[in-house]
Amino acid sequence: MSERKSYYVTTPIYYVNDKPHLGHAYTTVACDVLARFKRLDGFDVKFLTGTDEHGLKIYQTAEKQGITAQELVDKFSANFREMNELMNISNDQFIRTTEESHKQSAQAIWQKMFDNGDIYLDKYTGWYSVRDEAYYSEDELTDGDNGEKLSPFGSPCEWTEEESYFFRLSAWEDRLLKLYEDNDDFILPKSRKNEVLGFVKGGLRDLSISRTTFDWGVKVPNDDKHVMYVWIDALTNYISALGYPDTDGEQFKKFWPANVHIMGKDILRFHAVYWPAFLMSAGIEPPKRIFAHGWWTAEGQKMSKSIGNVIVPAEIVEKYGLDQVRYFMMREISFGSDGNFSHDAMVGRMNSDLANNLGNLAQRSLSMIAKNCDGRVPKAGEFTTEDNALLEASGLRLLQNLRDEFDGQMFHRGLEKIWLVLNQANSYIDEQAPWTLKKTDIDRMNTVLYVVAEVVRNVSLLLQPVMPESSAKLLDLLEISYNNRNFSFIGIEHALVPETPLPAPKGVFPRFVEE
Ligand code: MSP
Repeated sequence: MSERKSYYVTTPIYYVNDKPHLGHAYTTVACDVLARFKRLDGFDVKFLTGTDEHGLKIYQTAEKQGITAQELVDKFSANFREMNELMNISNDQFIRTTEESHKQSAQAIWQKMFDNGDIYLDKYTGWYSVRDEAYYSEDELTDGDNGEKLSPFGSPCEWTEEESYFFRLSAWEDRLLKLYEDNDDFILPKSRKNEVLGFVKGGLRDLSISRTTFDWGVKVPNDDKHVMYVWIDALTNYISALGYPDTDGEQFKKFWPANVHIMGKDILRFHAVYWPAFLMSAGIEPPKRIFAHGWWTAEGQKMSKSIGNVIVPAEIVEKYGLDQVRYFMMREISFGSDGNFSHDAMVGRMNSDLANNLGNLAQRSLSMIAKNCDGRVPKAGEFTTEDNALLEASGLRLLQNLRDEFDGQMFHRGLEKIWLVLNQANSYIDEQAPWTLKKTDIDRMNTVLYVVAEVVRNVSLLLQPVMPESSAKLLDLLEISYNNRNFSFIGIEHALVPETPLPAPKGVFPRFVEE
């Protein structure tokens, strides 16, 4: 048997100085959707997420709270695991950068870059933002109200002078540009690619990659006065999870280079510039793609603790339902663009897309089957042109459309295409009017109800990555066995077996009613 194709997708690893909010849940849900899609489509998938536990920001947060850094990271890392459970995330591994094996990987990649002549010792004098954990040059900063310097993300920066190791980033400019040129889809969306090109073409300066003023980090090999800059440590997680430096190991061979690292636009530079440079310097192939998604606002405003408008995943899941929230996140904004979370938009999607469209199609066809077909899958007669058109649109063609969209991380467009088919199916049922056929042509009624049940089956199979629980409920109502729920069963005629007794239909997508 030929080996199954592999697919490796990652979230960023989250800083543990804060509780998870909508933004974190968003990145993780998007990766989860992709991982589930690829598994159902026959790929051998590795889906990695985890927590970024070193660095000055964490160290200072622990100090403020009067606990040790280790206590802080243990407590907050658990919050991210809880978020995964809450959001029904199917990650294969959860990595923490405080794990011993990860630290060894980070030291191994450092050593490789050092041996390659890309690391040297010097002194860093310049600006640093603890909140962003990033170095900035003077011309990137703006002046704040009280004379302080602010990063492009509005974070305060401080002047820093200390002995530091540097990575010879300047030497990688041409090779990075060639990487972007040779791989047109390396950075997506395209608009973001231009941003990165501009940054690299503007000239790269060597990067300070170690600190001596605190020790909450991975020790630099052969110089333990220094801890590594948190981003070197953090980025390495993507390969330490595969057992690096054992590049001959099964995991590394199977899953590297990663198919896609997904993250927010704020940390694109680290992934699209620094990370491939580190990898190439260490003699490791760069990932295949970096995808930067947009940012959420809440009711039109930036989410912030001081405004008190931070959206907490547990609260919206409790209020609207888990799959409803997952669907909303993937459908409401184009993946790659910014968007807004509002109660009205959420309720709009819940009621119009889910309850009135998909929910109604399933509910009315299944109720008719319960009442008029003795609660059994109806037996279809000859298909008409209309029947075939709808069966084809909801079957292999829709699967292929979704593959194309999901391969480019265009989740919203994939969902749009599913809803076009649902609209078509709702019009079909209105036009065919099985409730009238009941009196005039029972055989034709059976065929129409069979066709609609088949559309519900196909669509439920395809919606599993986005709404796993609700799709499972629909597939249960159609008595589709667990073994028949992957994408190889899409569009297969007679997967719905006539005469199979079905359970009593139950609504799967409730309308949201204001209290
Ligand atoms: N620790 C680094 C990543 C290291 S990866 C090697 C980090 N962590 S983070 O916790 O600050 O952010 C993680 C992700 O959350 C980023 O992808 C970021 O863009 C995303 N979001 C944080 N706020 C967000 C919104 N308001 N909207 C959407 N996503 C945002 O950066």
